[in-house]
Amino acid sequence: MSSLHSPIVCNLPRITIVGAGRVGSTLAQRIAEKNLADVVLLDIIPGMPQGLALDLMEARGIELHNRQIIGTNNYVDTSGSVIVVITAGIPRKPGMSRDDLLKTNAKIVVEAAKNAIAHSPHAILIVVTNPLDVMTYLAWQATGLSRSRVMGMAGVLDSARLETFIALELGVLPADVKAMVLGSHGDLMVPLPRYATVNGIPVTELLDTATIERLATRTRNGGAEIVELMQTGGAFFAPASATSVMVESILLNQSRLLPVAAYLQGEYGLADLVIGVPCRLGCSGIESILELPLSEEETAALKVSAASVRQNIDLAQEILAGNTL
Ligand code: NAI
Ligand code: 2OP
Repeated sequence: MSSLHSPIVCNLPRITIVGAGRVGSTLAQRIAEKNLADVVLLDIIPGMPQGLALDLMEARGIELHNRQIIGTNNYVDTSGSVIVVITAGIPRKPGMSRDDLLKTNAKIVVEAAKNAIAHSPHAILIVVTNPLDVMTYLAWQATGLSRSRVMGMAGVLDSARLETFIALELGVLPADVKAMVLGSHGDLMVPLPRYATVNGIPVTELLDTATIERLATRTRNGGAEIVELMQTGGAFFAPASATSVMVESILLNQSRLLPVAAYLQGEYGLADLVIGVPCRLGCSGIESILELPLSEEETAALKVSAASVRQNIDLAQEILAGNTL
C-alpha cells in the first residue's frame, strides 16, 4: 500500500490498569471489547502482563475491535493515560489479619498511585483494591490530586448485586431493576431498598419487608458469598463490569449518576474520609455529589459505616508512618 499522507499523531485515549490479576485483566478485556480505549496492563510479575496483552490482542479480529493492549512492568509505558485504574494488591488469605492486608495493600496502592500519576499527571484515578474506601483515601492523599479526580469502585458492584437479587426474586429482567447502595464496601454497606425500582415501580410495592431485608443482607455478604464458593479467590467478572461502567461514563462524558467512593467535605455530615455516595461521573471525574434525603435509620447506618472507615484510615496512617508493630 502506498502512503498518501505524512504520518499524523493519533491521540487515542489510553487507560492504564495497574495489577493484571483477575479483576485487572478482565477489565482490560471489557474496555477493549467495548472499543473504549487502548489499554496498558501493568504488573510486577515479569512477562505476565505482556502475555495477557498478547492474548487479548490475538482476539481482536474475532471480537471486531482494533484497540491496542500493551503489557508492561514499567510505568514509563503508561505515560499519557487519561484514566488509571488500580487493582494491584493481595486478597486476604487464611491466617492473615485485617492489619496485615491493610499494611501490604496500603504500600502497594500508595506506590502505584504515585508512580502512575508521575507518568500521567492529568489522569483520573479509580481505585479497586481492598479495603476499598481506605485505599482510595490513601491514593487521594499520596497523589495530592483534587477530590474530583480520585474515586473508588464498590457501589456500582454492590448495587448490581442488589439489583440481581431483586430481579431473581421477582423473575424480571435485571436491566429493569435500579438500586443504590451507599456507604463503605463491606458488611457495613448501606443498601437503600426504598430507592430501588423496577422500571419506575418502587420495590417496596412489590416485595414485603422481610424479603427486602433478606436481599439486602445477601448484598452485604455478596463478596464473601463468592469467596466461600470459589475458595481460590474472589469475584472478578462483575467487579470488572462495574469498573468499566465508571470508565465509560468518564471517557464518554456520560454524566451517569452512580454510587462511587468519594472524598467527602461535609456532604452527608461527613468530612475527611472516603465513602460511597451518589456521584455524577463525567470527563472531569466526579462532577457533583448528590445528597439524597435519608431516613433516620439510613443516616445512622451511614454514620456507623463512616466510623469504621475513619478507624481504618487512622490505622493505615499509623501503619504507613511505621508506628505499629
Ligand atoms: P489478583 O491477585 O488476581 O490480582 C492482583 C494483581 O496485583 C496480581 O497480578 C499481582 O501481581 C499484582 N500486584 C501486586 N503488587 C503489585 C504492585 N506493586 N504493582 C503492580 N501490580 C501488583 O487479585 P484480584 O482478584 O484481581 O483483586 C485485586 C484487588 O481488587 C484485591 O485487593 C481485591 O480484594 C479487590 N477487589 C475489589 C473489589 C471492589 O468492589 N472494590 C471487587 C473485587 C476485588
Ligand atoms: C467483592 O465484593 C471482595 O470486594 C470484593 O467481591
